[in-house]
Amino acid sequence: MNQPLQHTTVLLDEAVHALLGDGDAPAGTFVDGTFGRGGHSRLILQRLGPQGRLVAFDKDTEAIQAAARITDARFSIRHQGFSHLGELPAASVSGVLLDLGVSSPQIDDPQRGFSFRFDGPLDMRMDTTRGQSVAEWLADAETAQIAEVIRDYGEERFAGPIAKAIVARRTERGPIASTAELADIVAGAVKTREPGQNPATRTFQALRIFINAELEELQQALEGSLRVLRPGGRLVVISFHSLEDRIVKQFIAQHSKEVYDRRAPFAPPQPMRLKALERIKPSTDEVAANARARSAVMRVAERTEVPA
Ligand SMILES: C[S@@+](CC[C@H](N)C(=O)[O-])C[C@H]1O[C@@H](n2cnc3c(N)ncnc32)[C@H](O)[C@@H]1O
Repeated sequence: MNQPLQHTTVLLDEAVHALLGDGDAPAGTFVDGTFGRGGHSRLILQRLGPQGRLVAFDKDTEAIQAAARITDARFSIRHQGFSHLGELPAASVSGVLLDLGVSSPQIDDPQRGFSFRFDGPLDMRMDTTRGQSVAEWLADAETAQIAEVIRDYGEERFAGPIAKAIVARRTERGPIASTAELADIVAGAVKTREPGQNPATRTFQALRIFINAELEELQQALEGSLRVLRPGGRLVVISFHSLEDRIVKQFIAQHSKEVYDRRAPFAPPQPMRLKALERIKPSTDEVAANARARSAVMRVAERTEVPA
């Protein structure tokens, strides 16, 4: 491949503005939990003051290599899941940004196994240095487990038949090693096709979410952000499908009200910890220029003052 694979950042200005606010050259520590190719990080660094700091995370070694090219002393990168952001010092962070999912360089590289559009090894790990690939997991998983993953994370009606077809093929011909093989098995098991959608779309989404523990990572990062954000600090999350957006929406809603303990009716309530600020969708121009932006939803919340 001659051209390096590119990533077009979604909601670039909107996310960086929501994170840094209106002030000029803010100081403070900001977190980019999903460095990718650094689209958001680079704009944050442009707008950040000399006393500011940007701590970035990514699970992907290629993203870490891309980050190593940034020589700005205010910037650092960690090869970790963003679920670890809660390990930063409490109330030390002025903003957390998460731009969820996979980057175009990951999807468009056949060797990573994320896409049914290309044939390649059935891997789908964001972090290829640890954990099981999808091929390894599918080699041993039970039919019921496979069906549950495809149903829960893909919202796929034909999860049962797909799981049975995977196990039947595995028993007959050995482990499923490639994306093309999996896409072919799924296509044979999905009886009614959704218009304009490849029959393997939901299954691939489900297996990717599962193998990367994406929803658990998100839940932990949201909890962690409550701990590390200082009062007035911003939480900015860009989601690309309804399972992610539901978690973000419910988390913000749950912490945007005072919580009473029914077992202790006279105790003071736990104060609200977040204030919902905005829900933003990409403009029609952005969607026309970048198809990946079509399903994006950005939610912004602010950490509220903790009463003394
Ligand atoms: C949509 S891309 C981010 C693109 C980035 N904002 C940019 O403009 O270049 C998502 C990136 O986050 C990483 N990622 C996804 N989930 C992660 C997690 N739980 N922990 C760390 N990195 C994660 C992926 O490896 C990918 O590089």
